[in-house]
Amino acid sequence: MTTNATPRFGDFHRILFFTGAGLSAESGIPTYRGKGGVWTEYDYEDYACQRAFARDPEKVWDFHDKRRAAVARCEPNDGHRIIADVQRERADTAVVTQNIDGLHARSGARDVVELHGSLWRVRCDRERVVRDDVTVPMTPRQCSCGAYWRPDIVWFEDALDPRNLERAQELLLACDLLVSVGTSGVVYPAAELPRIAMRSGATTVEINVEDTPVSALYQHRLRGKASEMLAAMR
Ligand code: APR
Repeated sequence: MTTNATPRFGDFHRILFFTGAGLSAESGIPTYRGKGGVWTEYDYEDYACQRAFARDPEKVWDFHDKRRAAVARCEPNDGHRIIADVQRERADTAVVTQNIDGLHARSGARDVVELHGSLWRVRCDRERVVRDDVTVPMTPRQCSCGAYWRPDIVWFEDALDPRNLERAQELLLACDLLVSVGTSGVVYPAAELPRIAMRSGATTVEINVEDTPVSALYQHRLRGKASEMLAAMR
């Protein structure tokens, strides 16, 4: 029988943080949906899918350079720092994120599973090369083979990297506390992942400023800003 008391990190051994754009909102990075969301201003069909990149790589890079510049001006917030602290204090703590902003790593978190890739990595699909790149704007945009470097991001209609998916599934199966932070839970297959922890009997917490389509699946629903609700679980 689940009590309604807010779960505390100290009572668990294998904590998994499953994070989304709402965690980075307090750093000043817009979320995707809802007021001022990226996809309310930009159509992914023109800026964030392979078809758009094939059609007009310069336009797609202009969009991603804007995102790089915006993220580069931001710092991790208390929410990121609490997660990194919990991971330092409790070694079996894992982070699976949908975020591409790199703020988990910048706050000191380790072994972060980036399900949707990273703004700070590029790849040449012709030469099958992937490399880190933190230039703003990204230069040069073309690889020495002449092909355009592509942001190493999982865009709409892309498949997730099976290695990341497998690693995330393993971690969700093993966790005894799942904390979902700042995600609307509408993008699959990522949104399917928390169900693995639910089925395996973990305690489940959803942190969000509002209800989501998957809220009813969670045992605990903490309503408020990510940094404040995470602090309440310490
Ligand atoms: N604290 C907690 N939750 C917040 C905060 C905050 N300060 N601010 C916003 N939220 C919540 C919103 O209520 C919303 O439910 O964060 C959620 C953000 O949802 P989305 O914008 O849909 O972002 P996310 O769920 O991460 O998107 C998933 O969709 O566009 C693709 O690949 C992209 O990784 C992304 C995926």
